Amino acid sequence: MCGIVGYVGHRRILPVLLDGLRRLEYRGYDSAGVAWPENGDLKRVRAKGKLNILEETLEDFRSTRSSIGLGHTRWATHGRPTEENAHPHADCTGRLVVVHNGIIENYFALREQLKKEGHVFKSDTDTEVLAHLIEKYLEDDLVEAVLRALKDVEGAYALGVLWADKPDTLVAARKQSPLVLGIAQDESFMASDIPALLPYTKKVVFLDDGELAVLSTGGIKVLSINSGDEIEKEIQEIKWDAAMAEKAGYKHFMLKEIYEQPQAILNTFRGRMLPDTGEVELPEMGLSDEVIKGLNKVVLLACGTSWHAGLVGKYWIEKWARLPVEVELASEFRYRDLLLDEKSLTIPISQSGETADTLAGLRIAKELGSRIVSICNVVGSTITRESDGTVYTHAGPEIGVASTKAFTSQLTALYLLALYMAERRGTLNEQERSRLLKALLDVPKIIEDRLGEWHENAFALADEFYTYSDFLYLGRHLQFPIALEGALKLKEISYIHAEGYAAGEMKHGPIALIDRNMPVVALVPKDHVYEKMVSNVEEVKSRRGIVISVGVDGDEGLNRLSSVMISVPEVEADINPFIFTIPLQLVAYEIALARGCDVDQPRNLAKSVTVE
Ligand code: AGP
Repeated sequence: MCGIVGYVGHRRILPVLLDGLRRLEYRGYDSAGVAWPENGDLKRVRAKGKLNILEETLEDFRSTRSSIGLGHTRWATHGRPTEENAHPHADCTGRLVVVHNGIIENYFALREQLKKEGHVFKSDTDTEVLAHLIEKYLEDDLVEAVLRALKDVEGAYALGVLWADKPDTLVAARKQSPLVLGIAQDESFMASDIPALLPYTKKVVFLDDGELAVLSTGGIKVLSINSGDEIEKEIQEIKWDAAMAEKAGYKHFMLKEIYEQPQAILNTFRGRMLPDTGEVELPEMGLSDEVIKGLNKVVLLACGTSWHAGLVGKYWIEKWARLPVEVELASEFRYRDLLLDEKSLTIPISQSGETADTLAGLRIAKELGSRIVSICNVVGSTITRESDGTVYTHAGPEIGVASTKAFTSQLTALYLLALYMAERRGTLNEQERSRLLKALLDVPKIIEDRLGEWHENAFALADEFYTYSDFLYLGRHLQFPIALEGALKLKEISYIHAEGYAAGEMKHGPIALIDRNMPVVALVPKDHVYEKMVSNVEEVKSRRGIVISVGVDGDEGLNRLSSVMISVPEVEADINPFIFTIPLQLVAYEIALARGCDVDQPRNLAKSVTVE
């Protein structure tokens, strides 16, 4: 996710852009930049790091009197967070700039073609392609050039364009990345999100996919990108205050991020898979097919929720790529005598890319000769810089301390990585890979369709159970790690003691805990261990235990055994971890709220554990 701001009107441009970018900083903050017309040319100032560094850099331009410009705060997806990769990006002349939020899926092919046509690229980003593509079509009509350029583009974009030859006009365009326009007397605004507009106007127009807008002091004109025809748009009045708007109207970042998961999963697999042919593209792993074929062990290395993702990934990699997998807690791994060599592939999994134990484990594995490919959500973080390759999750910044969208994005990356290695090792046929990729393709919509219902279930359930002081979460096979994750979510934000357990372990101890004071959350998909799970539920029931089950739609037998049942759609067994996780996140969230806990900043916890 990135933050875009654009303005044309009567105010001095720099304070408007900087204020807007500050209000969008939660969308990304590894680098930032602004551009405005000056003396018949364009001025562009960019800086690596937080927004205050850009502000300091702009001190020298305080006297600028321009009242039109574009700004951008970046969350890198392609290319490290450097000044050169910061937006706005310019064409060869430097007289046209673009800011962009999204992923241009065919940027590599477009860049190669544009280079052949003589365009000179200065950054590693996908975005710069847009500036040169518009330049290619630009004669004297900016809108026409942008419309033509966008017809060549595949992928997602929220786009802002400014040309020195049209210093009274901004062009905006949207496809699958949010863009909202602000309207006021003699001034027009564009932004990735509402917070940037609120100090100036509450009258907004939401651009829809496939729409382009022309902004000037006279107002806004909206066109269809396909036909070029003008579109009448409804002006809406925003009721939020600025604080609410930063969370997009959600009460907490954690809730917003739970609801962002369909988009985060989509953004993580976008442009990386061809379901029809069962192909996965992960060149960023940086491993040749020969190296992948020669591997004899995979180590998934992580902490906390990321370790739970690794536990799920183990099943997929062993089953599809036929490679033995060890899932290691980094804090234990780093103090053991390890058996690793150049035939080992170590995969650090980390949302932040800064977790001290995981980083330490990476360095030890590297010392022993292991290949290192990390899965990470922060471009250019320490773990990524010390890896041979990185498969980035594209979840956008995760602000809530309790990891949610990063977790399901990590699952997405592991699912793709397992299939990518299976394809190269020849251990899974095309038909199977295609079937599994099509199953993944459906996940965002499955979650989107049921989030509201699951949230209602969680709200009702919290009312009944928030006073209990102990919970047990049970799962088998792919749902065992999800039981661990559900328990971690509850304990870290509600401070209730909650344990995740392999359901088959009940008779080896935990069953002694069962009584009417111990709610048991049982994860019961209709997979190959369904009957085993049902008998675990019956064991709990027969000891007057309280069963909260997550089961598939229409499972009346399980429903009869449960005090409460949250139902989920029946899906491909390998997809269950994506689906069963979401209700558990919402249960933890609602119980924590009912207990008056600080959901986004739980006591004693930090978002990134950079100390041992
Ligand atoms: C998860 O909700 C926690 N915030 C925590 O367990 C986290 O997953 C762990 O600290 C690892 O962080 P990382 O993914 O940034 O390495």
